[in-house]
Amino acid sequence: MTKAKIILGIETSCDETAAAILIKEGETISIVAENVASSAELQAKWGGVLPEEAARQQLESIIPVITQTLNDANLNPDQIDVIAVTQGPGLIGSLLVGVETAKTLSLVWNKPLIPINHLIGHFYANWISDSNQVTPSFPALGLLVSGGHTDLVLFTDYYQYQYLGGTRDDAAGECFDKSARLLNLPYPGGPRISKLAEQGNPNNYPLPIPMLDSNDLDFSFSGLKTAVANLVRQFGSNQLSDQQTKDVCASLEKTVIQSLIRTTKRALNIHPVKHLMIAGGVAANKALQTEFSKIISQEFPDITLHLPNPKHCTDNAVMIAAAAFFHPEVENPLTVQANPNLELA
Ligand code: KG4
Ligand code: ZN
Repeated sequence: MTKAKIILGIETSCDETAAAILIKEGETISIVAENVASSAELQAKWGGVLPEEAARQQLESIIPVITQTLNDANLNPDQIDVIAVTQGPGLIGSLLVGVETAKTLSLVWNKPLIPINHLIGHFYANWISDSNQVTPSFPALGLLVSGGHTDLVLFTDYYQYQYLGGTRDDAAGECFDKSARLLNLPYPGGPRISKLAEQGNPNNYPLPIPMLDSNDLDFSFSGLKTAVANLVRQFGSNQLSDQQTKDVCASLEKTVIQSLIRTTKRALNIHPVKHLMIAGGVAANKALQTEFSKIISQEFPDITLHLPNPKHCTDNAVMIAAAAFFHPEVENPLTVQANPNLELA
């Protein structure tokens, strides 16, 4: 574990360029400053992320975002103890911008560099003082629900964890994004589907809950996306009305949440823990937060549920800096390489 008090975090795994400065006082981790520049609106033109364009936007944004964050914190580089950066997984062009910038700053400012696995980093959004009164302790079950991952992980210590199960095909966020395309809704699909779902009836177009008969800890969401495609096809040239689209969104959101809850409950029954932490972009979903809170308080009253502030569910640098406080320091920044295929293992 690093002894650092002030950490600069940098995150550039996909279409967000993010920097954050965090301070640790005693056991409390607080945000001093944070900034995120997103090229998501630009990416929406293509209906998804165009890797080359995302990397170009990262290059344009990285220095302004870091400079702004130092200015907002009213700190100079001398006052930073450690630099933390997302090493992977993600898009290689985007990752390289963050990693090579962090390596350069680390050498020029003479600061240690800590590379962070983006997937593990997501969970550390639960250690920020503004999101939770109580920080997680171990053992803890982690559910990661993002654009590329849906994983259940059992943490026995900060960087000791066991992968319990995950999606066999599409991730939950991917299912939202691909279904949104089928429904002619812009990228990223999750937030848009969630908004429309608020005015929809989830029972008008019931969708199948994935893996209903399964007894393991895996997920599957590609069948759900196909069910949405079939539904859209049934309407043929008669486009779905606005209300029908809202109903399908409500049904899809409800079914994804039901599937996540079923498998998480199964994991909690197998692994008796006192803490459940949820993380990743899909965890920003209001209905998901409400349903999980309800289930945990009703059926697992001894378990503390940890949910990050929604703005720290989607990609950000706060979680990367927070993760670094519990990570050993790396001596030589030149050994750190971006790794687009980094896994949980
Ligand atoms: O964690 P994240 O920002 O990036 C990855 O590491 O993948 O997650 C992005 C995913 C996208 O699929 C997006 O549609 C989804 O999170 N998402 C949501 C919501 N906000 C973002 N899904 C459902 N409801 C939301 N409110
Ligand atoms: Zn992410």
